[in-house]
Amino acid sequence: MLKGRHLIEPADLSIKEIDEICSLAEQILVDPAAFADVCRGKILATLFFEPSTRTRLSFEAAMLRLGGSYLGFADAAGSSTTKGESLSDTIRTVASYTDVIAMRNPKEGAALLASKYSDIPIINAGDGGHQHPTQTLTDLLTIRSIKGGFNDLTIGLCGDLKFGRTVHSLAKAMSRYQRVKFILISPSELQIPEYITSQVFKRSGIEYSTEERLEDVIGDLDVLYMTRVQKERFFNEQDYIRLKDSYILDNEKMKLAKKSLIVLHPLPRVNEIAPEVDDDPRAAYFKQVKFGMYARMALIAKLTGAI
Ligand code: CP
Repeated sequence: MLKGRHLIEPADLSIKEIDEICSLAEQILVDPAAFADVCRGKILATLFFEPSTRTRLSFEAAMLRLGGSYLGFADAAGSSTTKGESLSDTIRTVASYTDVIAMRNPKEGAALLASKYSDIPIINAGDGGHQHPTQTLTDLLTIRSIKGGFNDLTIGLCGDLKFGRTVHSLAKAMSRYQRVKFILISPSELQIPEYITSQVFKRSGIEYSTEERLEDVIGDLDVLYMTRVQKERFFNEQDYIRLKDSYILDNEKMKLAKKSLIVLHPLPRVNEIAPEVDDDPRAAYFKQVKFGMYARMALIAKLTGAI
């Protein structure tokens, strides 16, 4: 039963619940008219203390397509946060007006804190470099729809594995499936946090290796998950400039990959996937964008008890 629950990180959902959300998203995708009214009278709040294009707009589009409404802010500068209001007071206030809250905040742990002060569901739409569980639902729905399931996959995570919250959430979620392997492709300064290898991969018996060169391993992959170097999380601009173009996926590298590879990216991209790759049938990142809205429709419908 998902009604009334918070979603702070992927582990808040069981494998069975993830399957239920993906199945519902697939049903909505096939017959959206059948779901066009299920959230009539319900209100989603989108509280974005950090910039976003896909996450905020897909949440708002999702609620509108379910027949509900939304309110909120895309920039905390227009809210009473600038007067010094605490996050807990903001959440208690917004929870008085709405039925579900999707919040993005630069502070790691902010969504968990918000959930302590809310009697309506809090959905973590990204908390600093920590977690981004609805991007993970998006990624899982995309993988399931194209690959038919989650078992027996070799997944390459490439780019900024240190600060990329989508990578942390996806690694945790995929580690619960059978015979999944990870190849972690990053510069040494941007390696995945130690807690993911020790507390997630090792505890789950997940096979993983670390690599620096994408071209050496791209041929082994079923899924390549490219990520942007997260400029906003760097303390030193020189380090960002030095590392930002560490990986650029282009048609030459795609020639080394399997015909069945899928390339994912949470977006926004900067330089890490050359535009020429967009025409390759293995490029799935714009399909992924669309799946994100359906995943969020299913999630909203479940958390609000509409379905
Ligand atoms: N994938 C993602 O979170 O994109 P936005 O930052 O545009 O929301």
